[in-house]
Amino acid sequence: MKSRFLPIFLTLFCVINFQLFAQKSLPKLVKKGTTTQLIVDDKPFIVLGGELGNSTATTIENMKSVWPKLKTMNLNTVLVPVYWELIEPIEGKFDFKLYQDLIIEARQNDIKLVFLWFGSWKNSMSSHAPAWVKLNQDQYPRVKDQTGRSQEILSSFSENVLEADKNAFEKLMQFIKDFDNKARTVIMVQVENEIGMLPSARDHQNLANEAFKKPVPTELMRYLQQNRDSLVPEFREIWKKNGYKTSGNWEEVFGKGLHTDEIFMAYYYADFTDKITEAGKKIYPLPMFVNAALNKAGREPGNYPSAGPLPHLMDVWKSAGKGVDFLSPDFYNPDFKHWCDLYTRQGDVLFVPEHVFDQSVAAKALYTIGHYEGMGFSPFSIESTQKPEDEPLGKMYGLIKELSPLITSNQGTGKIKGIMLSKSDAETIVRLGKYEFTCKHDYTLSWTPGARTETWPLGSAIIIQTAENEFYIAGSGVVITTKFIENKDLNIGLLKVDEGNFTNNQWAVKRHLNGDQTHQGRHINIGTNQFGIQRVEFYGYR
Ligand code: DGJ
Repeated sequence: MKSRFLPIFLTLFCVINFQLFAQKSLPKLVKKGTTTQLIVDDKPFIVLGGELGNSTATTIENMKSVWPKLKTMNLNTVLVPVYWELIEPIEGKFDFKLYQDLIIEARQNDIKLVFLWFGSWKNSMSSHAPAWVKLNQDQYPRVKDQTGRSQEILSSFSENVLEADKNAFEKLMQFIKDFDNKARTVIMVQVENEIGMLPSARDHQNLANEAFKKPVPTELMRYLQQNRDSLVPEFREIWKKNGYKTSGNWEEVFGKGLHTDEIFMAYYYADFTDKITEAGKKIYPLPMFVNAALNKAGREPGNYPSAGPLPHLMDVWKSAGKGVDFLSPDFYNPDFKHWCDLYTRQGDVLFVPEHVFDQSVAAKALYTIGHYEGMGFSPFSIESTQKPEDEPLGKMYGLIKELSPLITSNQGTGKIKGIMLSKSDAETIVRLGKYEFTCKHDYTLSWTPGARTETWPLGSAIIIQTAENEFYIAGSGVVITTKFIENKDLNIGLLKVDEGNFTNNQWAVKRHLNGDQTHQGRHINIGTNQFGIQRVEFYGYR
């Protein structure tokens, strides 16, 4: 008897031991069908995030009141700045105590961290450079604007600036590796913050002027030729207008003007960032990204932060190297869909590291995940809420958390649709399988109290197809009707509509919906201010 069971026992023992002690692999980005997933602790991960206000994480004491708010709002990740001036207050002397404490507290709260490297640039300026850098202008030169005036901005053309920033970033990555390579609390790093040039389109100090007279680097020229057909159209147009030249200096290849100043500057910002990123990844290869302050329509570069990782410059940024995994938009502007469309048009993954923390964020978080199959969302100054328990974002994050296994297993396969509705954009049609869904804002139902109100909150939903006739529909503020795409003679009936929850990926029914809740079988409805998941099964009748 004993000898018969011994091998089974030993195998089980080994498996259990392996699972207990196996190291979790590093967070990484993995392509899945049409999208890219972030893998954390060996599973696909959707960032239900929030970014801290700039000075909130400068002491650990100040974080005490913050963690409970993050938990209440169902965050699984917080984006936290790492300030160069605080980790290297004296040249060559590093202090990571604050970040060690932050990692420990994040672990205690079961929250992951994305570190934001506030190195040479923070919103165009160099405010977070240490005093020993700021005070030594001979060694660490500043940019000059077009009038020759110095700005409080480090120059990306200086080898000394690059080396000092790179050295500090390497030390940061080494610290994360040493302190966190078992628990894997830190899952991504943003390199610099909203790089961009103000108040002129490019740097005009000597090193920059010399570079401007030189030929366009071969990396950029090669990238343009290899990707000529897939370049973003507005950038290809500039190159085309100048005769698709394959060599020459910046003005010869792209023409004279502020647009060329911006392209030139973007290349050197990207080159600098890529060098830092590559150096950091050599030590500890976490996914790394950059963020952009979006440009305002009708303004010239230099009136907005010129040359950042903006949609019209994405080819320039990509040409400089492969260290940066993706470019991402910060939203303090309207036109969410417009900008997200631009960032995803070359098939890149969408991650929104900052969005002003307003009443629209709950709907936009779901739309980022549903429509763009994005990696995550993160309102800025997330701790500023006084009533975290009332935040619609928290309720939406709770919903996405429940749905995460279902979403991530269907991502990239064409089985997910996302919709977002407003008063001026109150109806949209999406197709899944043999069904066409007409999705309207909940307030289009004339009997809802909100129908006659001046402003409507955004509505949003995600629709996931799980079988030929079965769908999970979740969100807030939507009403949905369906028809068959092909068989027009066949009517659609609601065979079953249940409202429920996923607990540990198991569906549990809370209410069987019928009667008024489906308008006696005519539609699917999740009211405004409700945050619900419904399982729906359709059938056809003649
Ligand atoms: C965008 C920046 O990235 C943030 O750090 C912050 O400065 C916000 N703007 C505005 O408050």
